[in-house]
Amino acid sequence: MCGIVGYVGKQKAASIILEGLKRLEYRGYDSAGLCLLQGGQLDLAKKAGRVEVLVKEVARHRFIGTTGIGHTRWATHGGVTDANAHPHISSDGKFALIHNGVIENYAQIKTFLLTKGYTFKSETDTEVLCNLIAYHYAKEPDDGGASRLLECVRKALRHVDGTYGIAVLGVDFPDELVAARKASPLLLGVGDGEYIIASDASALISRTQNVVYLKDGELVHITAAGFTITTLDQADVSPVVDKITWTISDAELGSHANFMEKEIYEQPVALENTMRGRFSEDGSTANFGGLNLSAAELRQIDRFMFCACGSAWHACLVAEHLIERYARLPVEVDYASEFRYRNSPLDRNTLFFVMSQSGETIDTLAALREAKRKGYRVLAINNVVGSSIAREADGGVYQHVGPEIGVASTKAFTSQLLLGAMMALYVARLRDMSFNDGVQYVNALKGAPDLVRKTLLQAPHIKAIAERYSGYSDILFLGRLSLFPIALEGALKLKEISYIHAEGYPAAEMKHGPIALISEKCPSVFFVPKGEIFNKIVSSMQEIKARKGKIIAIVTEGCELPAGLADEVIPIPDCHEAVLPIVATVPVQLLSYYIALKLKCDVDKPRNLAKSVTVE
Ligand code: G6P
Repeated sequence: MCGIVGYVGKQKAASIILEGLKRLEYRGYDSAGLCLLQGGQLDLAKKAGRVEVLVKEVARHRFIGTTGIGHTRWATHGGVTDANAHPHISSDGKFALIHNGVIENYAQIKTFLLTKGYTFKSETDTEVLCNLIAYHYAKEPDDGGASRLLECVRKALRHVDGTYGIAVLGVDFPDELVAARKASPLLLGVGDGEYIIASDASALISRTQNVVYLKDGELVHITAAGFTITTLDQADVSPVVDKITWTISDAELGSHANFMEKEIYEQPVALENTMRGRFSEDGSTANFGGLNLSAAELRQIDRFMFCACGSAWHACLVAEHLIERYARLPVEVDYASEFRYRNSPLDRNTLFFVMSQSGETIDTLAALREAKRKGYRVLAINNVVGSSIAREADGGVYQHVGPEIGVASTKAFTSQLLLGAMMALYVARLRDMSFNDGVQYVNALKGAPDLVRKTLLQAPHIKAIAERYSGYSDILFLGRLSLFPIALEGALKLKEISYIHAEGYPAAEMKHGPIALISEKCPSVFFVPKGEIFNKIVSSMQEIKARKGKIIAIVTEGCELPAGLADEVIPIPDCHEAVLPIVATVPVQLLSYYIALKLKCDVDKPRNLAKSVTVE
């Protein structure tokens, strides 16, 4: 949800900011803009459309300044127009501001500022904050303090309700930048004689791996000579400089056509990285050092609660299935956005988990805070090191899959499935699972990367199927047990990137409604695993076939479907139940991917979406 970048250093800021914006574009791509402080003035370029449109616009300007800010927008307040694009300039021309988040009390502040003579060019909440800073600058006398820019931003922020990651320049403050955050991500890159602030590390990794993760309520004041961090209450903060462990090549396409393809093919290695070092020496269970929870404490737990959004929520549903089956403990899964307002009763021995690739999804973060407020220990499964969720959780597990840039989650999702399966194993081994069953389970998990490699070899076959099915406007995804969430994920992937209407359903529930959609115009994708429910699923397929619905069947090897029942068959390797959801995900990723390509959709940046949803 919006990406922000700011630069203070010795190099020309424009190209550095534009490169950062290109890397942050997955956070929003409705408009983009840039403002440099040069020659004693604020020079602005901003346009509706993607960063490439801004690049052309910037070429028409003479941008030589070494201090600047840039923004890529996911529209919240106000339509997708040039005027609503960031940066915004205060009506007195003195301040420029970029913002990720929502100023909830913007209407009251705007009414007040209008009475003071400030004017507005946009419909955004952001412009209000920019004018509020200008108001404080005009109103407050110069007290000779270190930085009036910092103090005016601080004063304005004290009047603001809502969320923000902001960066501000002032025309009277050459080579200065102030940035601040509350519930929107922000980090500071500490380079060689230069400083870069950004919404995430991908925007600054090409210049430095040394970063300071800002916390909520902190402001950073950057000058050419250095930086200081303080809080909204004016307390000094000693910065902790962390090192990013990945490099620029992890965030680049390499030989791939797009990030979604790259990330689908990275899955075997991503799964290996997720598992690395996380099995016991005797090979019978998982180890999770970061949970900060002893085995004895974990044995006291009698219920799990998982909260997440989007694909991560689907991964939680699979974890529910596996934990209940193997550890025999009840699990509840909720949408984070629902949990936070539902006032769900949690009992004392509930272990609360949040799952989030980015670690910045605002609803998931809010669910974490709500659970903590109620006194629960909250653990996180999260990919982005140093994210808000990682820092606020009481413990957790990193996914270690490297940056995921395609908006539709792929490698992060299968890694979440794997961690859910490992968690089920870990808890099961503390309870009733035998050593031998544990060893078998661990060996199955260790085999998952190769099974995914094998499944990826189906890509040409799946591509051919995708080309035959790209013309439909509705597709059902049907699965049972641990593959029901994968049906949901398949439908979500297809919707997200191809804009074809799709629904995921438990295969047997299909006859309670969705079957009304079935005709030769609405095909179904069935997951058909070997085992106890095979015959039941075949019956559901027969019901579809009887109504002329076409069927794409994702079938475990060794299963014999009645002749002619499926129109298309995609075989997947037969495997342990803990691994099956991971392997079964690959065909639906590829199917959606190839359908979207056939329809000439932008798979990495689907319309209206953003990767990291940092507004409610
Ligand atoms: C967005 C993304 C999804 C993702 C969801 C949750 O909607 O488009 O791919 O699953 O957010 O994101 P998180 O970072 O919390 O896993």
